Amino acid sequence: MRTKIVAGNWKMNKTPSEAAALVEGIKALVKDVTTVEIVVCPPFTDLKDAAAACAGSNVALGAQNVAWAESGAFTGEISAAMLKDLGVTYVIIGHSERRQYFGETDATVNSRLKAALAAGLTPIVCVGEKLEEREAGQMETVIVKQVKDGFADLSAEEIEKTVIAYEPVWAIGTGKTATPVQAQEVHALIRRTLAEIANGEVAGKVRIQYGGSMKPANAKELMDQPDIDGGLIGGAALKADSFADIIKAAL
Ligand code: PGA
Repeated sequence: MRTKIVAGNWKMNKTPSEAAALVEGIKALVKDVTTVEIVVCPPFTDLKDAAAACAGSNVALGAQNVAWAESGAFTGEISAAMLKDLGVTYVIIGHSERRQYFGETDATVNSRLKAALAAGLTPIVCVGEKLEEREAGQMETVIVKQVKDGFADLSAEEIEKTVIAYEPVWAIGTGKTATPVQAQEVHALIRRTLAEIANGEVAGKVRIQYGGSMKPANAKELMDQPDIDGGLIGGAALKADSFADIIKAAL
């Protein structure tokens, strides 16, 4: 059995003090949850305050990106060591908004993924097809390529340490959710691809989250699917009660 993992991707929302307050609110609502991994991923500037609020609780801290280099002339980037020093243990890599607006490619995803793994951070690697790709019948090709190229040169042991988030781009922030059947089909495809690039045992262990307009009303039916092991939540993670309700739907 894979432990479900529910992570909040706060994107560019919340100031440091708002972040601390939101973590406090979440903590109070989920303090009795022991069987779901809970992660919040605030903006970099909030991490220190969020870390203080998360300390000693069942809420872990993630970042939204990580540099591929250890240090040096990379203006605007944040290294894995910087994140670790703050108490960060997870990091989102290759979110579709990074791919769409900031030039991320499967190659940069691969480099960042290697840096995260080398530092002992748990990567949450995002993949997902665009609407026009789905409509053109290219979903499978796109997803398999993102997984194979994003995970290139990784050992089976390294792949086992990752979390993958399947986020159909057409479902992110749109209110349009993939149906449980549509999502399950892609999650199974991702798991088959992992079996190909690593092995069946590793493929069976990697958690694959669904993301894209997941909310309390649809979380359970999605996470009840055999290959859906949690969620990466955007909008509904910005309020303690809706995020907590999604976590409880994973129980
Ligand atoms: P959403 O975002 O839940 O607001 O659709 C999910 C994500 O982009 O990670």
